Amino acid sequence: MSTTWLWYATRGAGMVSLLLLTAVTVLGVLSVARFEAAGWPRFVTTGFHRNLSLLAIGFLSLHIVTAVVDPYTNLGWAAAVVPFASNYRTFWLGLGTVAFELLLAVLLTSLLRGFIGRRAWRAVHWLGYAAWPIAVVHGFGTGTDPWSAWALLLTATCAVAVGWAIVTRVNLPGSDRLSGARARFRESVTRTRDGTWP
Ligand code: HEM
Repeated sequence: MSTTWLWYATRGAGMVSLLLLTAVTVLGVLSVARFEAAGWPRFVTTGFHRNLSLLAIGFLSLHIVTAVVDPYTNLGWAAAVVPFASNYRTFWLGLGTVAFELLLAVLLTSLLRGFIGRRAWRAVHWLGYAAWPIAVVHGFGTGTDPWSAWALLLTATCAVAVGWAIVTRVNLPGSDRLSGARARFRESVTRTRDGTWP
C-alpha cells in the first residue's frame, strides 16, 4: 500500500502547526498587552490563545505520529521524545523534537500553574518564544521543499507576525501595572506622616 498520504499528512500538519504556533505567540502578546477593541473584549484574546495552543499541540501530535509511522523515513518512536536520536536527518529532526518538548513544558506548566506559582510558570512560558525559531529551522532543514514559493511566503508571513509580537512584548511596560499607583500612594503616606502634606 502506498504511504504517500502519510508524507502529505506530515507536511500538512507541520505547516498548520507552524501557523497555529504563530497565532498563539501573537495572541499571547496581545493578552499581556491587554488588547481590546469594539466587539473584541479582552477575554476573547485569552480564550483564543489557550484554545489555539491546544489545537497546535493536536496538529503537532498528528505531525509527529504520521512522521514516525511513515516507513519511508523509519524514524522510530524514540525520535519523538529523544532529540537527535534518529538516523534520518538527525540534526534537523532533533531540532523539531527540542521545539516540541519546549512547547510541552509550556503546556504542562500552564496546566499546573495553580501548583507551581506564577513566577515559575512565567519563567517556563518564555520558552515558547524559543520554540518558534527552532521549529522554523527544523522545517527548513527537514521539509521536502521549504524553499518553494508557497512555503517561503507562509514562513515569511509567520516571521513578520512573530517579529512584531516580540518587538511589541519587549516594549511593553513592566508586568506590575500597579507599581506607579503604589509608588504614588507610598509617597503620599510618607508626606502625611511628616506633616508636610496635605
Ligand atoms: C514544534 C514542533 C514542530 C513543528 C512546528 C514542525 C513543523 C514542521 C514543518 C513546518 C515542516 C516542513 C513541512 C514541509 O515543508 O514539507 C516539518 C517537516 C518535518 N517534520 Fe516537523 N515540526 C515539529 C516537530 C517535529 C517532530 C518532533 C518530528 C518527529 C519526531 C517531526 C518530523 C518531521 C519530518 C519527518 C518532516 C519532513 C517531512 C517531509 O518529508 O517533507 N517534526 N515540520
